[in-house]
Amino acid sequence: MSKNNEKIIVLDFGGQYKELIARAVRGLSVYSEIRSGSIDLEEIKRLAPIGIILTGGPKSVYREDSPKCDPDIFSLGIPILGICYGMQLLCHMLGGEVLPAVQGEYGAVTAQLKGSALFENIPQSPVLMSHKDFVNTLPQGFVNTASTENCKNAACENIAAKLYGVQFHPETSLSLHGRTVLKNFLYNVCGAAGDYKLDDYLEKQIASVRQTVQGQRILLALSGGVDSSVCAALLAEAVPKQLTCIFVDHGFMRLNEGDKIEAIFSKHAVNFIRVNAAERFLAKIKGVTEPEKKRKIIGEEFIRVFEEEAKKLGDIPFLAQGTIYPDIVESGGEHGAVIKSHHNVGGLPKNLSFTQIVEPLAGLFKDEVRELGKKLRLNRQLINRQPFPGPGLALRIMGEITKDKLSILRKADDIFQEAFIKCRRKPSQYFAVLTDTRSVGVKGDDRTYDYVIALRAVDTDDFMTCEYRALSHKILGRVSSRITAEIPSVSRVVYDVTSKPPATIEWE
Ligand code: XMP
Repeated sequence: MSKNNEKIIVLDFGGQYKELIARAVRGLSVYSEIRSGSIDLEEIKRLAPIGIILTGGPKSVYREDSPKCDPDIFSLGIPILGICYGMQLLCHMLGGEVLPAVQGEYGAVTAQLKGSALFENIPQSPVLMSHKDFVNTLPQGFVNTASTENCKNAACENIAAKLYGVQFHPETSLSLHGRTVLKNFLYNVCGAAGDYKLDDYLEKQIASVRQTVQGQRILLALSGGVDSSVCAALLAEAVPKQLTCIFVDHGFMRLNEGDKIEAIFSKHAVNFIRVNAAERFLAKIKGVTEPEKKRKIIGEEFIRVFEEEAKKLGDIPFLAQGTIYPDIVESGGEHGAVIKSHHNVGGLPKNLSFTQIVEPLAGLFKDEVRELGKKLRLNRQLINRQPFPGPGLALRIMGEITKDKLSILRKADDIFQEAFIKCRRKPSQYFAVLTDTRSVGVKGDDRTYDYVIALRAVDTDDFMTCEYRALSHKILGRVSSRITAEIPSVSRVVYDVTSKPPATIEWE
């Protein structure tokens, strides 16, 4: 996005840490973009990066079908850092030898670092290794700069050609001084000035939105999630009088959530429309028990409501979306792609009559979006909101959804949320689920036969996998007592101790 900033391009060879690398570079004040490893040489020249980082990847470089880059990339004179597969690729393509190791090397190990611009100010310290192949012979002109007990070439370089390789992963926190390795590459090798600041991004986006929208109107589908909320705040700063936010309340929000969102955005000088469509959604979903069917019905109904409301407003040429950079990277698309398929309530249809989609957050990572939200003085609760699925509580009520069940779950969830108010290290996501199991209980002198509530709290970085949080029995006991005492129709509370895989985070 940032035309005038110095730029690092991260060439992707299928490694799981590509976003970590790109984000770490930005954290060091240098703008970064992720591109395919097979990027055209001309495109690289057009982008004019100050440096290139080759990511890791799951394949073996010596196999025919492994991803490669244009070999001429190594003679462009642009500094290159190959990480893991990236280092092996660099060595393999320049005439070195990469072989399968007798035994792979996985986990944090101590590396013996030799004098290199990459390792300036770094003591001998653990680095994260995760490889089954290794560089056996370095290409001509290269020297070894690090080794571990099981890997003789843990790093290498050819200073004259500005080519560097590390077998370990400096982008992960398990490499204790990994950030310094990247910093050294950016500043010692690429000569970065460090001109990337989020403040500049904000200013540029505000100017760009004004330039695009001119005096016309722009519509935003506001879900109350972090991305669409920050997008709303940015647009409210850029074109307040021309912005209309439509918040479709499908009735599956948590306790008082719709009111909180309305209260926050009604304060801004924008047109805010809340559509209370709970009855309509409930009617559509009546009797439906199958999770995927619930998702589909809610997604479709969301679109119908949004379309109807947009039509009432007359012709609005611009539609804003809270698309962020990982959405684009993960869907393999380019900037300016149409509406993302994984919009959090099913995706808006492509045939809505807008002439242009505006995506002011499309260049940012999630934590950058949160930071931008702070700069825009957005309510902290919204900024730090844990992920909440588009179909909302409909996915946390097993089986048929009714008003009564929604009310039970809202109360139980609210009690569980309260238990974390003072918690300094909150789980990544925590919530209550209303199961479709009933169990026998005893309250006073009466036998009961009531609902079972399940609690779930997980820790994760990427929500692709997760560990369940080992909550203390004291907390769990307290929450259970409150739920069973304050909600008459709940007889029992259980805690979910399953990680992902094999379970998913949501129950449906
Ligand atoms: P799972 O349950 O697949 O969830 O492990 C991973 C993350 O995605 C969220 N999630 C959804 N978000 N629409 C959404 O917008 C959905 O249908 C949906 N299903 C799951 C979930 O809350 C977790 O953060």
